[in-house]
Amino acid sequence: MPILELKDISVSYPNCDAPVLQLPRLQIGQGEAVAILGPSGSGKTTLVSIISGLEYPATGSVCWDGINLNTLPEAQKDQWRAENIGLVMQDFHLYPGLSAFENILLPARFRYWHLPRELKRKASDLLDRIDVHTGARPIEKLSRGEMQRVAVARALLMSPPVLIADEPTASLDVTNGEQVIELLLDLVKEQQMTLLAVTHDRRLAGRMTRCLTLENGRLIKDGVNETERDFT
Ligand SMILES: Nc1ncnc2c1ncn2[C@@H]1O[C@H](COP(=O)(O)OP(=O)(O)OP(=O)(O)O)[C@@H](O)[C@H]1O
Ligand SMILES: [Mg+2]
Repeated sequence: MPILELKDISVSYPNCDAPVLQLPRLQIGQGEAVAILGPSGSGKTTLVSIISGLEYPATGSVCWDGINLNTLPEAQKDQWRAENIGLVMQDFHLYPGLSAFENILLPARFRYWHLPRELKRKASDLLDRIDVHTGARPIEKLSRGEMQRVAVARALLMSPPVLIADEPTASLDVTNGEQVIELLLDLVKEQQMTLLAVTHDRRLAGRMTRCLTLENGRLIKDGVNETERDFT
């Protein structure tokens, strides 16, 4: 049984003539590592928002493990997302004024009154793994690459079964990009996590088990390591 099943999805905006996303059917299996490719404006971030339940499609269903997100009330959907999805958004959504460490711990702060010591240790291990050592400096004073790595670490704190990342290596140089790719793929293996990553990065796409390519909001390719086109 697929872990994610999309049916008859259509997303439109009032000022756009055609739907920005149209997917008759898409299934993702548990433990798959899926790259989402396509030119700018092809609907990749829209797809991320739909499958993570941040936006509702105009039509169709988004089912995770048999749960249809479109039928869940907002509060239940937010709770479901917090428990099941590690999300790295394209613009990071980090919390200004807080340090890297505190930003990584945020998902736990929403869940626990007193933070378990092992989660603090995990946050600290993740900081080491992403090689960010910026102490108490507020997150807005970090470089874009550092912020990106913190956003990835934060998504991993609660060991979610699914990680969805929108361009997780976009702001990173080769070394840091490789480091984040290794971290993501290690976790997929170690925790049998399902990974969906929007990317222009051939190094990342080449390491995934499946590549989806969008163009004008439609799925035009669904295959294994179809990275011959570079959209950067
Ligand atoms: N809130 C909105 N209102 C109107 N149009 C929108 C809105 N959000 C996205 N769009 C349009 O939907 C289309 C798909 O946008 P989306 O952000 O999903 O593209 P993308 O593939 O992620 O692009 P990029 O690679 O540049 O991040 C674009 O044409 C965009 O202008
Ligand atoms: Mg985008």
